[in-house]
Amino acid sequence: MDEHVERRTHWYAHEIVPWEQGRNFRDEPWDESQATLSPETRTALVLNLLTEDNLPYYHATIEKHLGDHGALRRWNGIWTAEEGQHAIALRSYLLVSRNCDPVELEDDRLATMAGGYEFDADDPIDLFVYTSAQELATRVSHRNAGKLADDEVAYELMSRIAADENHHFLFYRGVLSAMLDEDPSIVLPRIYSVLSNFKMPGVGIPNFLRRAVSIAKAGVYNLRIHHDRVLRPLIRDWNIEGLTGLTTTAQEFQEKLLGLPAQVLAKAAAFERRYGAVGV
Ligand SMILES: [Fe+2]
Ligand SMILES: [Fe+2]
Repeated sequence: MDEHVERRTHWYAHEIVPWEQGRNFRDEPWDESQATLSPETRTALVLNLLTEDNLPYYHATIEKHLGDHGALRRWNGIWTAEEGQHAIALRSYLLVSRNCDPVELEDDRLATMAGGYEFDADDPIDLFVYTSAQELATRVSHRNAGKLADDEVAYELMSRIAADENHHFLFYRGVLSAMLDEDPSIVLPRIYSVLSNFKMPGVGIPNFLRRAVSIAKAGVYNLRIHHDRVLRPLIRDWNIEGLTGLTTTAQEFQEKLLGLPAQVLAKAAAFERRYGAVGV
């Protein structure tokens, strides 16, 4: 917690959002011709925003698994506040720059939040594995969406958000590393269980599949990026290969975990054969 407080950068969304572009939607309703970003970029930014919108459920999940006291309570408070700014900033930017359909955005937000989000965890360890992977994935996805935008403001905004996600990632990864130091034989099977079933939290968003394929093809987030930028770095950072003194069961999970990147890479290759080369 102390490391996070030291590391975090405080920033203000209002200093980035180009408010001077704002016009009212009553006199000038939204029309797609007003958008300045490519359809793929808009899809990526809206998908990322709707994922951020579900924050109340993420907060509740953390509270449910980690309790409501001590350092982890303080973590959930500051983390929620930081995440909250992401949706505020993204929505402000998309609306003021007319890069989203405001009616569709609100309808999708309502549908997403009414459906909610449930994190299926057997163990509090699962939460730290999942959040490590998810924050890292979000960092990569926000950053790539900013690059794809080819727009100075969108790039700056997404870089700021990605920097926050990186700090969150460092926190969760650090806690999981400490757990591994305590008892790798207990933690290893949980890492395998979570990483082998990993899904982004946006699956309840309307048209998630169509949107996910679009951002995969645009190179914002796809299986190859997941392999290169999330899975392999986590396995390396947690020194999975070097863990010793394991029980026989934990050794089996160590092997399975080390074999996971190759399986994901094979799926990535199959996706690319179907849709062609991808990349930002
Ligand atoms: Fe976020
Ligand atoms: Fe985050």
